[in-house]
Amino acid sequence: MELYNEKVIEHYSNPRNVGKIENASGVGEVGNPICGDIMKMYLKIENNMIVDVKFKTFGCGAAIASSSVSTEMVKGKTIEEALTLTNKDVIKELGGLPPVKLHCSVLAEEAIKEAIADYYRKEGKLSEEEILKKCGLTNQEKCSHCADVKEE
Ligand code: FES
Repeated sequence: MELYNEKVIEHYSNPRNVGKIENASGVGEVGNPICGDIMKMYLKIENNMIVDVKFKTFGCGAAIASSSVSTEMVKGKTIEEALTLTNKDVIKELGGLPPVKLHCSVLAEEAIKEAIADYYRKEGKLSEEEILKKCGLTNQEKCSHCADVKEE
């Protein structure tokens, strides 16, 4: 069965940056309404830079691989750079995901955005509206993209 490419399988088998950061600058937790899977992302931010990132994913292989690769993509980046990361970038970096698994990559994008939003909330400099706007989130649904994806 060739559902997943080698890179996805490699990240699933040896996920990078698994775990938790104590006293994280920001923590984002998102759930996928389609399957119920959950991803939690921890960021350590210093001088506007993501200096460390860890994740815990209770989910499918594609979600774990997406989390793993996305942590590599945002580590060492500024907050602004990390906020531009989309699930499409994650899919591209993984070399593709099976069509029925594309929605899994959304968790990674949303978890990072939620973690940054949490950081801004802790900082206390921006209003909730400004935070949601800056992070590209809505206050109705945390995982707005997922809600648009219909089950096959
Ligand atoms: Fe739930 Fe992949 S099936 S995130």
